Amino acid sequence: MAKITASVYTSHVPAIGAALDMGKTHEPYWQAVFQGYDYGKQWMKDNKPDVIFLVYNDHATAFSLDMIPTFAIGTAAEFKPADEGYGARPVPVVKGHPELASHIAQSVIQQDFDLTIVNKMDVDHGLTVPLSLMCGEQDPVKGAWPCPVIPFAVNVVQYPVPSGQRCFNLGQAIRKAIESYDEDINVHIWGTGGMSHQLQGPRAGLINKEFDNMFLDKLIEDPVAAAAIPHIDYVREAGSEGIELVMWLIARGAMSDINDGKATGPAPKLMKRFYHVPASNTAVGHVILENQ
Ligand code: DHB
Ligand code: FE
Repeated sequence: MAKITASVYTSHVPAIGAALDMGKTHEPYWQAVFQGYDYGKQWMKDNKPDVIFLVYNDHATAFSLDMIPTFAIGTAAEFKPADEGYGARPVPVVKGHPELASHIAQSVIQQDFDLTIVNKMDVDHGLTVPLSLMCGEQDPVKGAWPCPVIPFAVNVVQYPVPSGQRCFNLGQAIRKAIESYDEDINVHIWGTGGMSHQLQGPRAGLINKEFDNMFLDKLIEDPVAAAAIPHIDYVREAGSEGIELVMWLIARGAMSDINDGKATGPAPKLMKRFYHVPASNTAVGHVILENQ
């Protein structure tokens, strides 16, 4: 049967993608960010997954105000890079895993979570920047990402957004879905976005190191408490875009210590924790957890 062996958490700052694509990674400003991912890049090579289930948010690239799915699973065979602002990144097409994605859709919907099934979708920096950070730079044409990716888009852009608790519960349903897939494959689940940032209004530029580090502590050691943080706390403390952090709780809820909403099994092993301010307008956070 399929199993989830690890979860990865990382910010998705679009300027990181631009720094990579424009050859700026050795500038001191960016060096301080990228060195936080040296471990993760090697870890990915040493612990190559068969599939990545990648929880991210779309930024009005694939979806617009015309249609706003709360949770959308990408079931296509491939997803083309596209983006607002900087334009589509020069990175390889993302290959999907239609069989596993369809199985997860079936199982999760039967566990009473309503997913939108998306058979055609472009993916923006929310998905491609985490891939670049963890997998390194790839030639857009001759290169390829190391494995298929199932994109799972969460609406954290247009209110109403899902609560952290619902995301955490959904992660548990996704774990059950993956563990009932009848093939011996190794799946990583990634939670992306965050950390604190606000891009508009009088509080634009807001960063809250205390909140971010409290969130990282709870995510790692007390995920049930992290799941209980109400959405208004993210907005007040971590800024309007800090709400992206609820996506990390989907990945954390899928780890094997979480059963029936409680942390009962052996805690996952912390392989990496990194926090850095600033990158563009955001605080960058990154964690790797391995199931024991
Ligand atoms: C920035 C951060 C984001 O998460 C995003 O989606 C867009 C912009 C920023 O730091 O500028
Ligand atoms: Fe974002």
